Amino acid sequence: MAFFPWEDRYRIGVDRIDLQHEKLVGLLNDLYEAMHAGEGREALGRVLTGLTRYVRTHFSFEEQMMRERGYPGFSAHREKHEKMTRKVMEIQEAFEKEEIISPVQVSNFLKGWLQKHILETDRKFGDFCQAQE
Ligand SMILES: [Fe+2]
Ligand SMILES: [Fe+2]
Repeated sequence: MAFFPWEDRYRIGVDRIDLQHEKLVGLLNDLYEAMHAGEGREALGRVLTGLTRYVRTHFSFEEQMMRERGYPGFSAHREKHEKMTRKVMEIQEAFEKEEIISPVQVSNFLKGWLQKHILETDRKFGDFCQAQE
């Protein structure tokens, strides 16, 4: 069983976003596995960098779509993205500075955040899009 199995309840009804979320969940599983397999710094760094990049790509995509659709919850949603981006960058920096980061803590934190964000915050935008169509 994967660390973070993808489930139908994570779908918000916007295909392009659902696909990106599924990919994010997959990257988080890769990170978890790399951390737990005790893979070398290089491999772990690659996975972490890939995840960080994809998080930013995904956030920009959602924000662009919210702007295009005139979503009223845009600012509050973007603030959540910004806060998370800072947090992910902190994790990346800590890793680069060779500070001790706990794999369990990092994986659980990212999983918890993503689950909550998809189910609560992204879901609201999904509902808004569906109501528009
Ligand atoms: Fe999202
Ligand atoms: Fe979002």
